[in-house]
This record gives sequence, structure tokens and C-alpha cells, in this order.
Amino acid sequence: MSHFWHPFGQLYQSATAPLIFERGEGIYVFDSNGKRYIDATAALWYANVGHGRQEIAEAISVQARALAGYSTFGNFSNQPAEELADFLSARSPMPETEIFFVLGGGDAVETAAKLARRYFFEIGEPERIVLVSRTNGYHGTWGFGTSVSGIPVNRTGFGDLVPDTIQVQWDDPEAVEAAIVRSGPDRVAAVIAEPVIGAGGVYPPPHGYLEAVSEICKRHGVLLIMDSVICGFGRLGSWYGVERFGVVPDMVTFAKGVTSGYLPLGGVAISGRVAEPFKRPGSAVFRHGPTYGGHPTCAAAGVANCKILEDEHILERGALLERELLGALLPALESPLVAEVRGGTGLLAAIELRQETLESHNGVLDRLAGFARERGVITRVLGKGLAVSPPLIIEPEEIREIGVAVAGALEDLGKALG
Ligand SMILES: Cc1ncc(COP(=O)(O)O)c(C=O)c1O
Repeated sequence: MSHFWHPFGQLYQSATAPLIFERGEGIYVFDSNGKRYIDATAALWYANVGHGRQEIAEAISVQARALAGYSTFGNFSNQPAEELADFLSARSPMPETEIFFVLGGGDAVETAAKLARRYFFEIGEPERIVLVSRTNGYHGTWGFGTSVSGIPVNRTGFGDLVPDTIQVQWDDPEAVEAAIVRSGPDRVAAVIAEPVIGAGGVYPPPHGYLEAVSEICKRHGVLLIMDSVICGFGRLGSWYGVERFGVVPDMVTFAKGVTSGYLPLGGVAISGRVAEPFKRPGSAVFRHGPTYGGHPTCAAAGVANCKILEDEHILERGALLERELLGALLPALESPLVAEVRGGTGLLAAIELRQETLESHNGVLDRLAGFARERGVITRVLGKGLAVSPPLIIEPEEIREIGVAVAGALEDLGKALG
């Protein structure tokens, strides 16, 4: 009986034997029985450079021995945090980017949401507080992130959430404009959107969608926050996950791939426009930030990981391999159990089962993921299907192995369901 209450896990499951992962190497992870799996989810969309990179472990070790942790409140700082902020600012699509460090994606969303409101407060428009988000969107599980979530089950049972948050249909730019107009155009602070919706089911944006939303935001003086917690650091083939759309947002939230998960780290890249009111002599202090923001050892992991992404040209692979991944999963459509296969924008994809299949038996998706696991591939149960988002170092033939395992798992499931 385990006493570990798992995130997004049912507590009764702690009575069943957990799957203990012990070791990782490249695209593979190994369980406590020594069984090897292709990590087709890059853990939770984050092991972008793959597992077991000794350079990152070494950078962590060197920093931990020198000075493991120290506050960065006020003007205290450390070399790795300075270096990582400079590195990320130099690669940002936004002018004069400042970097605010936190510990993960949920923290980053809180930071961006509060900063959007505080920015307008500082420039004399304090009534601009409304946040517009999208159905199917996922922005973490903290206060603002829960409130702007587009996944209803993640919002249920918590009482009143943050007021002045509005959801719109995920794929319709006109819905964004209508929400802005309905709220009163001088009341909306920001629109928050993922470049490709990830945890909500992998939904690439319709062609021209993000460009249209960006234009609407500009027209109404509304900030655009791109939540690139999944999409950044190569998942869509670039640092910030927005470059391919030609969109220049006002803030970008990031986490996950910034360290490939070797240590927890997240942050917000903030355009010069949004930072400006806080830069003037005697200007307001943004009274916000966690104890471990800019943690030197986490930042050292980030620096080492980002160098690997750049020097080994791993960054681009999210885009280079996107068709390969979609192509490997499309044969799943031949299964009578499958309704849809989505992907093709970045190295992430999902297969969705038919409603009748989902309703016919309990736990169908867990069984499907179990069959894939028996075939040596870790996938992720997500909404009405399975998600696949392997490390960016994966090779085309290994992607095809994932496709074969998923097709096989669907056959296994079909037989099991009779
Ligand atoms: C787009 C997006 N935003 C925010 C988050 C929350 O990040 P974290 O789990 O690190 O708090 C996630 C996590 O998957 C995410 O996908």
C-alpha cells in the first residue's frame, strides 16, 4: 500500500502495484524489472533532449556543489540564471524580452495572468482585467490556470474561481473578437492560448487562426499570451513555439523543455512593451515570485539543456519530424475503434476513439495504453484517446515502431472487447 497520492491519479490506485521507472537512456526508459520502453510521451511532454544526458547531470552537480540554492529576490542573482535569461532573451521573437523565472508551467501562467492585469493598472487602465481563453485549453492547475482552463472537469468542485475570465470556442477567431466586444473593449486585459492545444487533446490551430487572433488583440489593445509550456523548446521546431505562425505575442509562458525535465523550471518571456512600466526609475515593483524563482541549480540545468538543443540541432526536429509522426499514426484509422488522428504541427499527435467504444466498457483507454505498454511503448491517456509526443531526438524508424505498437494495441483491444 503506497501513501503517494499521485497528481491526476485515483487514490484507490495506490493499492495496486505502481509502475516504477528506474532509468532512462535516450528515447528509452526502463522499469524496475529491467523492461525497456520507448518513451513515446517524453515523460509529460518534456524530455525533449532525451534521458540520461550526462552533460546536464554534470552541470547540475557542479552548481549544486558550488551553491545549490540561493534567493534571487531584489537584486540578488546567480550566474546560471543570468546566463539563461540572456540566452532566452536573445532568441525571443519579441523585442527587448525580459525573462521572469518560476518553477513550472502553472507558475508561469499565474505570473503572466497577474502581470497582464498589473500592466494595465500601471498604465492607467485598471479596469482591463478580463482574461479570454479557449475551450480544450490547458493552462495548469493553479488559481488562474484553473480559471482559464477549457477542460470542464478540471474546473469542477472548487467553488468560485477567478472572476472576469471568459472561454471561447477554441478554433474561431471571431469568437475571440465577440468576447472582447461583449466584455467592453476597454475591459479585456489578455487572450491566453496554446499554439497547439496539448493536454486538452492535441488540436493544431486551424490555418490562419493564430494570426487572426493576434491581429484582433492588436486592434483592441489586448495583450496576447502564448502558453508554450508544451510547444516551446523544439516541440514545434523553435524556441518559443510561435515563430512558424509569424505571430509576435506580448508574453510567452514556458517550462518543460527548457530543462527537458532534468530539474523543475518555468518562466515567462515578457516583451519590452509589457516590461516598460516597471523599468522606469521609481516605477512599481511587481510583487510576485516564488521562493525558488531563478534557482541556480535549476537554471544550470536549463543552460546545459538549451546548449544541447541548439548545438546538436535538436530544436528544429520537432518540425522536421512532424509529418513522420502523423504518418506513423494514421494507419490507426483502419481500426474500427478509432474516430480521428490529429497532429502534423510539431512532434505531438493524438488518436481519438469512437464515442461508442469509449462508452461500451469502463477504462477502455487505460487498457489501450496498457496494451501499448506490453508492446514496449509508453503513451499517455488523454481525453478521449492517447497522446504521443516522443523526445525530439527520436529517429524516423523509431517513430514507425511507435505507430506499429499503437496499431497492435488497437488490435489487442479489439480482441479483448470482442
Ligand atoms: C500549456 C500548458 N500550460 C501550463 C501547464 C502547467 O504546467 P505545470 O504542470 O508545470 O504546472 C501545462 C502542463 O502540461 C501545459 O501543457
